[in-house]
Amino acid sequence: MLRRVLKGLAIGLAAILVLALVALVFAYVASSRIIDRTYDVPFAVLATPSDSAVLADGQRLASLWGCLAGCHGEDGAGTLMFEEPLVGWIRAPNITSILPDYTDEELERLIRRGVKQDGRSVFVMPSGLLYHLDDAQLTSIIAHVRSLPKKKDRFKGGVKFGPLGRVFLAIGQFQPSAEEVDPDSPRRAYPDPTDEAGLGEFWATTACSECHGEDLSGEDGFTPSLEVVATSYTPADFRLLMRTGIALGGRQLDLMSEVARDNLRHLTPREVAGLYDYLTGHFAANSATDE
Ligand code: HEC
Repeated sequence: MLRRVLKGLAIGLAAILVLALVALVFAYVASSRIIDRTYDVPFAVLATPSDSAVLADGQRLASLWGCLAGCHGEDGAGTLMFEEPLVGWIRAPNITSILPDYTDEELERLIRRGVKQDGRSVFVMPSGLLYHLDDAQLTSIIAHVRSLPKKKDRFKGGVKFGPLGRVFLAIGQFQPSAEEVDPDSPRRAYPDPTDEAGLGEFWATTACSECHGEDLSGEDGFTPSLEVVATSYTPADFRLLMRTGIALGGRQLDLMSEVARDNLRHLTPREVAGLYDYLTGHFAANSATDE
């Protein structure tokens, strides 16, 4: 009797192991196909910008869009963003050593469309948002990053997937950046530097929506709704959060405080005021339509 039970158990276990193995092989094959997919995206020629104010603004724009500071490091030499052998490794590469090998056209396609020199997609880079960089901003960011001193590679950059990461990729939980771009959507126009309301809307729908969701109402388990600005923050509280990362009541937050200190502090006072007005107006309008 005991023998029969043990035999049954062994067969059950073996079946589970075989199934798990089959699932892993399937995930490996399916994810490799996604990683190696190539995208036929034409090169666009960047218009020579006439706006000298934007051109001189490359360092600030590179920080606000998260090219420097956030992901590729303050000096562009890259950062280890994530390391978890089961899921994978995200190492934002050293752009000071990569950029000389890229032409401006190739960079445009990489940044705004998420497609590398070899036609494959990048991962993790928020190309869906970077798509909204207009020619002047993009040109000024490229010029700034090209002017940075070349740093030695401290590690080999790139995204590698572990077994769980491959499963996520195979079932569509991770997407190649090139597929986050909607090339038919109109590019958001970068407002005139004196247009406070326009600047507020621009940064809310690009910088904040990256984490707080397209409609700014937060993402489950990750970020709160920005309605909190409308309901709890005074303009002075909000300025403090954007400048220093200190939240209402003197709290230090995790990612948000870091993003404010590294990136958002580069917003001008006018942009912060515009953002505050945009967020309070946005949620007032939404709650009016809810009723
Ligand atoms: C890279 C992701 C990221 C970006 C970009 C980002 N946030 Fe956040 N934000 C967070 C996270 C995560 C939290 C939750 C607190 C935490 O874990 O740090 C948060 C929390 C907040 C809070 C709540 C603070 C509190 O009182 O608890 C406010 C307000 C806020 N963000 C405003 C903004 C605004 C405005 C922008 C755009 C200018 C923005 N955030 C851009 C990730 C981000």
